Amino acid sequence: MSQLKQLLCLAELDQQQLAGLLDLALEIKQHPNNYSTALKGKSIALLFEKPSLRTRVSFDVGINKLGGHSVYLDQQNGAMGVRESVEDFGSNLACWTDAIVARVYSQQSLIKLAQSSKKPVINALSDLYHPCQALADLLTLKEQFGDLSKVHLAFVGDGNNVCHSLMLGAAIMGMTLTVVTPPGFGPDAHVLLKAQALGQESGAKLTLSQHVSSASGADAIYTDTWMSMGNKADPAQVERVFAPYQINTAVMQRLAVKNFMHCLPAHRGHEVTSEVLDSDYSLVLQQAENRMHAQNAVLVSLFA
Ligand code: CP
Ligand code: NVA
Repeated sequence: MSQLKQLLCLAELDQQQLAGLLDLALEIKQHPNNYSTALKGKSIALLFEKPSLRTRVSFDVGINKLGGHSVYLDQQNGAMGVRESVEDFGSNLACWTDAIVARVYSQQSLIKLAQSSKKPVINALSDLYHPCQALADLLTLKEQFGDLSKVHLAFVGDGNNVCHSLMLGAAIMGMTLTVVTPPGFGPDAHVLLKAQALGQESGAKLTLSQHVSSASGADAIYTDTWMSMGNKADPAQVERVFAPYQINTAVMQRLAVKNFMHCLPAHRGHEVTSEVLDSDYSLVLQQAENRMHAQNAVLVSLFA
């Protein structure tokens, strides 16, 4: 596998690199002791402009398990463009740290950060993408089903950052992906074009729909919050538009889907019911655990 230089978006990876990262993540998950000094002497900044549970903790603990050191910058100390510019954050952090993991409002900030920093930048969620989440999700699907090119995933909900990264990941790996969104909440047009182009190379099947019935027979249904962080829309209006897209037991049974996925945090009773979220067929905690293994594969690849 060729060496990774950054991870701002999954489209930076070809199929061999993405498959290699998933294999490495499984290897690290199965044999953690073999990687306990992989980041020896390395310091990594974790910069968060938005709240986080999974991403923050899984990076911090993961870096520790690889023998590295992390420095956490919270929403106050990591607020780029307030006390100093994004570029000054990038150039300064590069003086002391070996990589920057950043959760930002805008993908543009990540691009500026990467341009101004001499050290690699990893996207820990932006308005457009959540590549680390999609890596963990693909790892979970691989564990569950094996060959990803034979997997049919259906995403039902908001065509947002999580959906975008799943589209790119599925397209690279030649999967079947059905994206079901309410009218007006479909994925970004540029991301769609990119995914379609990647899908042509891999043989992926990408379908967009506004009808939940299109998810029928999928191997797994995936949903995400209807109100992403920073969304200023009227919650009551969002609730009205998205209500028909809720994943509940009746929907799972009607569509004959046997696995449920969610990036979390979940909003119980909104995009998903507790009955589905807490069911035996819910993969959400496997996904959450796999965040760490997938990210550790990224970190190990950066410094290989
Ligand atoms: N899925 C995810 O990124 O969770 P956090 O927002 O808690 O990091
Ligand atoms: N789409 C959600 C994902 C949270 C992990 C958000 O951006 O808030």
